[in-house]
Amino acid sequence: MAQDIETEAAEAQERAARRDQAVRAAVEQGLLGPDAAVVGLLDVTGIRESAAALRSAFDAVLPPGTPVLHAFAVKATPLVPVLRLLHEAGIGAEVASPGELALARAAGVPPALTVLDSPAKTPAELREALTLGVAVNADNPQELDRLDALIRSAPTRSPLGIRVNPQIGGGAIGATSTATETSKFGVALRDEGAREWVVRAYLDRPWLTRLHAHTGSQGIPLGLLVRGAAEAYALAEEINARAGRRQVDTLDIGGGLPVNFAAETTAPSYAEYARLLAERVPGLFDGRYGLVTEFGRSLLAKHGTVVARVEYAKSAGGRRIAVTHAGVQVATRTVYAPGAWPLRIAAYDPKGRPKPGPEVVQDVAGPACFSGDLLAEGRALPLLEQGDYAAALDTGAYYFAHHYAYNSLARPGIHGFAPDGSGGVAFATVREPQTVAEVVAESGGAHASALTTLGAPGSR
Ligand SMILES: Cc1ncc(COP(=O)(O)O)c(C=O)c1O
Repeated sequence: MAQDIETEAAEAQERAARRDQAVRAAVEQGLLGPDAAVVGLLDVTGIRESAAALRSAFDAVLPPGTPVLHAFAVKATPLVPVLRLLHEAGIGAEVASPGELALARAAGVPPALTVLDSPAKTPAELREALTLGVAVNADNPQELDRLDALIRSAPTRSPLGIRVNPQIGGGAIGATSTATETSKFGVALRDEGAREWVVRAYLDRPWLTRLHAHTGSQGIPLGLLVRGAAEAYALAEEINARAGRRQVDTLDIGGGLPVNFAAETTAPSYAEYARLLAERVPGLFDGRYGLVTEFGRSLLAKHGTVVARVEYAKSAGGRRIAVTHAGVQVATRTVYAPGAWPLRIAAYDPKGRPKPGPEVVQDVAGPACFSGDLLAEGRALPLLEQGDYAAALDTGAYYFAHHYAYNSLARPGIHGFAPDGSGGVAFATVREPQTVAEVVAESGGAHASALTTLGAPGSR
């Protein structure tokens, strides 16, 4: 345990050093500057380390040979090169829309390593998944009816299960809590008659072999995540006892490991979570069940940084404000719900070097035209001046890959970085920056006169 903490502290230090080196190299190589005022950076070394940590954490508590699929929740970082990198590191994909499935396929993730969960799957989406052999977790009885019909019409290789909501309560953030009494996800297990309905659904359908519960995401304490898995395990045992055979052969425990946004270190770790699960739900780790996990944020958050140029530094009524190019378009959750999603900010000078103190309390604002567009408020930082850079840390998941087109701000470019083998930093384009012409095209540019001519005499 003490060794875990020491290793983690050393890794955190190395991660920060890699990030500093990458920011400086991005400026030197012209990826960041007056004409590229905001970019997303992804640390390839760090992503590989997290993927390896995830795999070894669960391998350490499972009997050798137990089938395990770690499916990355694509929603966390929907970028094809990231999915390919993770796939190469032994990680599959959890998808929740036709777009996410297409991204996983474009990255080369095979259907057998893909899981489809979403609360609103259409018949066409379900048919596609079953044709491909993608695993599906049915969200509710109506979706199960659709699966019944599809299975009657054609056989499938897809492993199929039901998502249940154990209704064990929420965490610190309501919007990412999925196991509350009234959550919109899965079959609410404690509602009257629901548990018996689920058991019967399995007994009537020998092809239902998986069971899924995702207790929630950021803000859910480790103990609650473990309880969610324990509830799913207990239900699987009940179904199998009633069936008189091992009908449920795989438990999908979802994702949700929280990320430490307050400091550089990763806490809790995958190893801690896996050990706690093995201690509290030993039956899940005795080799009778295969395991699926669906981590998103915990795999990528620490490895992404959005860096933005300080366009202007000003003061108003005694308040110091650095006006940067990163705001609501790349950090939507933080801007709209700053209490729930605070981000660490690092200050760099115009050459991309970490800026020394002294610290001054200031606001770090974004470029959008509303007062609340702030990355950080009242933050003590080395004073940000015109031409400096502000970096929002731990933004590799659910941040700059999730562009929000307020003010028609263009999507920034995203670059992966890794050592170049001779002491420097090499970059690779993950996503090109969006051009203004593309913004126009996406905004109906091809249909400029669509409304003015609608219904006009002679327009039909
Ligand atoms: C079904 C499911 N699995 C996995 C995840 C990933 O959660 P996290 O990114 O917190 O690990 C989510 C997040 O919304 C989800 O809904």
